[in-house]
Amino acid sequence: MPSCCDPGDYRRVFSPARAGRTVRRYLTRGLGGTAADLARAVATQGVAGATILEVGGGVGTIHVDLLRGGAGTAVNVELSPGWEPDAAELLARLDLADRVERRLGDFVVTAPTLLPADVVILHRVVCCYPHWEPMLDAAGRLAGRVVGLTFPVDRWWTRGAIGVRNRVIGLTGCGFRGFVHPVAAMLGALATAGFQVSGPTRLSGEGGFGAVVGVAAAS
Ligand SMILES: C[S@@+](CC[C@H](N)C(=O)[O-])C[C@H]1O[C@@H](n2cnc3c(N)ncnc32)[C@H](O)[C@@H]1O
Repeated sequence: MPSCCDPGDYRRVFSPARAGRTVRRYLTRGLGGTAADLARAVATQGVAGATILEVGGGVGTIHVDLLRGGAGTAVNVELSPGWEPDAAELLARLDLADRVERRLGDFVVTAPTLLPADVVILHRVVCCYPHWEPMLDAAGRLAGRVVGLTFPVDRWWTRGAIGVRNRVIGLTGCGFRGFVHPVAAMLGALATAGFQVSGPTRLSGEGGFGAVVGVAAAS
């Protein structure tokens, strides 16, 4: 399946400058806002020794934090190459390079080549991809125990803000677009995939974001 999305467009939005800021903030203040909320919610499910698959993790501060908290190893799949130099620097600095594999590519396309993981995380990612269904379908198939997901809540003002941003980005000739996908349908898809979904909870850091943690029903 070919990717729908040009990595060059994603790099224009998710650039090295943004990556540098994210790393500096993490190193000085730790996780904050929505990322901290999601990491905490996932950690309460138990992550000791767990394998983590993070989709669109950027520099990877969430899986880095979970690894520092006792998780085993992580794989990050990213569409934008703009995060990579700062991600490598962060991993080297925290002596985590041998526990993290970073892959570049569209998760929906590369999913069949990935190994299942105990925990799959998608933080602020479905809203940056046009096709939520194959994305969550692949996440559900690869998650052994837990899926942690954040997304913009579906409200007129969230749609308005993302619409305005899309127009501004469009004026620059960049093909990247943001999306507000139907929350009930996304949660329904996770439930159908066998996850007991808790939430959505409103997140503290960004008013317009919600989170769910899906836990696989015990077999
Ligand atoms: C808003 S950023 C969030 C980055 C990081 N999760 C954070 O919160 O700091 C969304 C990220 O998702 C990535 N992304 C979107 N769709 C993707 C896909 N299909 N496969 C891999 N990465 C994807 C983008 O490249 C971008 O880095």
